[in-house]
Amino acid sequence: MRIVVLGSAAGGGFPQWNCGCFNCRRARSGDPEARPRTQSSLAVSAVSDRDCGPGWYLLNASPDIRQQIEQTPALHPPEGRLRGSPIAGVILTNADVDHIAGLLSLRERQPISLIATYAVHRILCQNPVFSVLDPSVVSRRTLPLNEPVILEAGGAEALSVTAFPVPGKVALWMEDAAGGDLQAREGDIVGLEIAGGTTGARFFYIPGCAAMTAELADRLQGAALVFFDGTAWSDDEMKTAGVGEKTAARMGHMSMSGPAGSIAAFAGLEVRRKIFIHVNNTNPALIASSPERRFAHENGWEIAEDGQEVML
Ligand code: MLT
Ligand code: MN
Ligand code: ZN
Repeated sequence: MRIVVLGSAAGGGFPQWNCGCFNCRRARSGDPEARPRTQSSLAVSAVSDRDCGPGWYLLNASPDIRQQIEQTPALHPPEGRLRGSPIAGVILTNADVDHIAGLLSLRERQPISLIATYAVHRILCQNPVFSVLDPSVVSRRTLPLNEPVILEAGGAEALSVTAFPVPGKVALWMEDAAGGDLQAREGDIVGLEIAGGTTGARFFYIPGCAAMTAELADRLQGAALVFFDGTAWSDDEMKTAGVGEKTAARMGHMSMSGPAGSIAAFAGLEVRRKIFIHVNNTNPALIASSPERRFAHENGWEIAEDGQEVML
């Protein structure tokens, strides 16, 4: 299995267009300690060699998808074809703007499948702009919860995906419609377990998670690789950075640090490789030489970088 980090930042990217915080200014100045990042997404293929042809699946469709595809040669149209793409489908973890806006950039009548829970498909169906993905070309496939689904790969080896519920809240742009009850309902937000390939490898993609439950800890125990919600270092960092009042918890994200944070939550779990992804531009761990980055490293965590590849 071959995994490419298409983007590693949270919504807004790094630097964020309207942000003059300490981190964003460093990134804009070209400081190598503060490498820019596009909004979070992975590409995954069952086959692990360099030139693996069709059968790539994108995990979420970020607003930066066009740039991400251009920067990843394996996702370019096949040699000698006027139109075509090795991208077989997109799998969504929720309906946040940073996970669905890129769908609108995939409207050029390329047959792909759009795979999401019933709840997320329902949100997309209620918003007519997404009908730009012509249903006669783009098939919509419903992801059940806790049940593996085989992903077709155009003759190449197949992957399977299992979606499972994680704690979280409704999408930011749906908050008003939710009438004050921000608690996610079944299928609003999921993590993904992807398995398959010649090695039978498995990994987890969880870019948004509000808390570590006993059930989630059990599921992740013994995993070879987990990409996990790295939005915030501390719950009040937006406030400390002077860019907003919202806490990470209010946004549906657990923080990296602190007794209820993700570093502590994973400390008792056996997970071979742990990579933070969906990192917000205010997170001090984005700075390569920061004490926060060092602390994360010392606890066995990497901070994902755009273009990073993992073979499993
Ligand atoms: C989040 O991860 O909290 C959302 O992406 C926020 C947003 O949509 O801007
Ligand atoms: Mn997000
Ligand atoms: Zn910023």
